Amino acid sequence: MFPALALASLLAAAAAAPAPAPAPEAIPPGELGKSIRLGKALFDQTDAHPLTRPYVKNALTCASCHPGSGGEAGGATLVGAATAYPAWSPRERAVITLEDRILNCFMRSMNGLRPPNGSPPSVALAAYLTWISTGLPVGMNPRSPHGPRALKSLPVFPDEVNLPHGRVLFESKCAKCHGKDGEGNPPVWGPRSYNAGAGFADVEKLAAFVRVTMPLGDPTLTDSEAVDVAAYVNAQPRPDFRLSDHLPAGAIYNSAAGDERDGAPTWPPPELPPGVVDGETARALVAQGVQVLDVRTPREFQAGHLPGAVNIPLEQMASRYREIGPLSTQILIYCRTGRRSAAATKILREKGFTRIYDLQAYQRWREVETGGGR
Ligand code: HEC
Ligand code: HEC
Repeated sequence: MFPALALASLLAAAAAAPAPAPAPEAIPPGELGKSIRLGKALFDQTDAHPLTRPYVKNALTCASCHPGSGGEAGGATLVGAATAYPAWSPRERAVITLEDRILNCFMRSMNGLRPPNGSPPSVALAAYLTWISTGLPVGMNPRSPHGPRALKSLPVFPDEVNLPHGRVLFESKCAKCHGKDGEGNPPVWGPRSYNAGAGFADVEKLAAFVRVTMPLGDPTLTDSEAVDVAAYVNAQPRPDFRLSDHLPAGAIYNSAAGDERDGAPTWPPPELPPGVVDGETARALVAQGVQVLDVRTPREFQAGHLPGAVNIPLEQMASRYREIGPLSTQILIYCRTGRRSAAATKILREKGFTRIYDLQAYQRWREVETGGGR
């Protein structure tokens, strides 16, 4: 692919620009090289290769979502991902290894079973993904498992999503490859696609991928078109996800999280019941356009507040609540410790607001900087 010199300068520039994977000729000799080559084969033929087929329950390969054997710059590239592990995973509530992260994709994106840690496919995939990060600096991140090139979610404002438009776009720009019924090659919904627990079941992530990767070879959608078509795709049926169904008996699973269940379709998202929320949920609500309400004093507010927050101090709530908007407004409320936000919530409920999410303390916004990838 690249002459050796060009490759060397590419690797030198890798930290700045998204890097392509190294050329296959650069695979080291011997048993390690063999494992890397095997890993690449498994990555490209995950649903068909005898070593991985027993763990895959759909018609996808790793390369279906990580194009160019995971080595293509942009999109869901995995060049550099290996440098971010071991990492704290907010979703697993544990420090996980690259192998753990790979195996989790089998349960979700591949709708299959988690292969054992240390098994031949697991080792080979880890060898391959580490090799494509050759020359990149280790960038362990205590807050998030995302590699340096992690797909940046597109913000989605549910009120602005246009599903009929998403359908028109799908039929004109996607159906010729993915089928009008979504079950083409590769399938984007239906029983042979990713399940409701997969990363792409989040419209924000799917839209971000589609925006830079699809239509294949001609990724020309605008942000809002990508969101509409992603919402349309995720409004279709696909397998539900129940974590325990994807863990073989006696499997080692490095996670402190409980049993997770996600139902399909994943769009429109079921509304979160009102109540106390954590920082990660608060971020998701803000990304969806919730009204943020700071009930501290103007002085505390001026010293720093959440993006887009309006300031109505608790003492003025009973007289100024109309400024918030209609009673159907979704509100994210907070103060310094949670005491004033609870008192303000009580007042707002009495006035007739029902969709109130209480972050409690301003500080909690910062506690969880990023969510877990899937
Ligand atoms: C249906 C699409 C899909 C399939 C199939 C898929 N993945 Fe992923 N993968 C994703 C998404 C989405 C992410 C999350 C990216 C993010 O959040 O930034 C991800 C993340 C990852 C990460 C973590 C990247 C990082 O930077 O931390 C690894 C490693 C990974 N995938 C490996 C695999 C392997 C190996 C397979 C095949 C067994 C696979 N994936 C199959 C969609 C998919
Ligand atoms: C020219 C054919 C073609 C078109 C048009 C196309 N895709 Fe794809 N798509 C592919 C192929 C092939 C892959 C597998 C990745 C690869 O081989 O690079 C893929 C992968 C995907 C995936 C991840 C794998 C899966 O099946 O879930 C999604 C999601 C997706 N495409 C959505 C879309 C959307 C949405 C559009 C329209 C905006 C679109 N594609 C247009 C060919 C196409």
